[in-house]
Amino acid sequence: MSVSHPSPTHSSAEILSIYVERSWRSNAQRQLNKGIDFVIGKREGIYLWNLEGTKRVIDCSTAGGVHSLGHRHPEVVAALTGAIDGGRDTGLWSLPNAEYLWLQDKLAELAPSRALDRSVITLSSTTSVDVATMFAFRFTGRQKLVAYRHGYHGHSGFAALATGSAEEGVIDYYRLPRQYAKFFDTYNALDELAHVLTPDVAALIVEPINYETFEPASKAYFEGAQALCRDRNILFIVDETRTGLGRTGRLWASEHYDIAPDIMIVGKGLSGGLYPASALLMRFDIYERCMNQHDFAYISSLGGNEISCIVAKKVLEVASQPEFLDHVNRISAVLSRELASVCSRRHNLLSPGVAHGGLFSVRIHDSALASLLYQAIYRHGVLCHSVSVIEPCVLKFLPPLTLDEVGAHEIAEALDRAVQGIGT
Ligand SMILES: Cc1ncc(COP(=O)(O)O)c(C=O)c1O
Repeated sequence: MSVSHPSPTHSSAEILSIYVERSWRSNAQRQLNKGIDFVIGKREGIYLWNLEGTKRVIDCSTAGGVHSLGHRHPEVVAALTGAIDGGRDTGLWSLPNAEYLWLQDKLAELAPSRALDRSVITLSSTTSVDVATMFAFRFTGRQKLVAYRHGYHGHSGFAALATGSAEEGVIDYYRLPRQYAKFFDTYNALDELAHVLTPDVAALIVEPINYETFEPASKAYFEGAQALCRDRNILFIVDETRTGLGRTGRLWASEHYDIAPDIMIVGKGLSGGLYPASALLMRFDIYERCMNQHDFAYISSLGGNEISCIVAKKVLEVASQPEFLDHVNRISAVLSRELASVCSRRHNLLSPGVAHGGLFSVRIHDSALASLLYQAIYRHGVLCHSVSVIEPCVLKFLPPLTLDEVGAHEIAEALDRAVQGIGT
């Protein structure tokens, strides 16, 4: 069988068909089924161009927040190239380096609670969730995680055990040991949580929003969840992989609540979309008990490498600036107004959903039209995040937080034209 190798001269269509022919077919096919025939070429700020440069879209997916600072943020690019040109490489994991300490200090300085003053640096949130789980098992002497059925925490190891939806979960598919995790089905329902947090549970891992609908946790729910955990000696792990770094208008979504998580996960955008980085922040006593009572308690050849730490620290500096967070809140108000005005013009199909910092959704009254709308808005230049798989049926937008008024207007206009295009 002759095999064609992708080369810089391959077109988008050829690359997609090679994927389907002999590579990650299920992924390419999923995109094609959604009507997305896009292979990224140039990228800058809020925009992506296809390989041929013939189509430009606003990135309202951002890979779930990986590109929260927009594509190729100049300060982060400068930090990365400065590190390489300045003679750095990954370093050696076993030899202490200053960059690791500086990143840990920055994370502790900016953490939503003063108690989160220790951290482990990794390369992905999946790994951070895995390490957090092992730490929770050791710290509590128990062996079970509780998570929201429609949350997401990763696709391998313990993170996969905490990802339980029928669509994305792989527990049965890989015959994973399901006894290490259990799920609650309704977000923002304290009664169900109280029921599922039994004495054998080591940790509750939860995001500060219901990511399927972007609905934020209510204060009563999130603070109540922490109180239940404290009461039952269960660790309260807040996964801020998607909600951190300014996404909700504060540096951390946890800051909207009166809480002090025992462990907090951060990732995705910590990479600046340029170099992998993630971290789990935790209390001093958890860190000491887990990290420092075994010579090899947790090691990784590349987790916490010098380049990663340099990039992540720069991202934290940019995202924590008050002017940056003010910008997020200003643009949130602008896009929310623009989307509301499209909804009022197109009230037979749409009504306003969530506008929470840089998280936006619009409700689609007829869920049968949701995938058509997703495709239509793509044709009009906006790559949306997704459509919810649970009720309410919403179209989700997760734009770069560097979005400006022109971009916000373009998104709303594309939505308006998309609705018109599907003829409702
Ligand atoms: C909340 C949350 N936790 C963990 C992960 C896993 O992150 P990664 O895929 O970067 O390992 C994700 C990824 O989407 C996530 O959204």
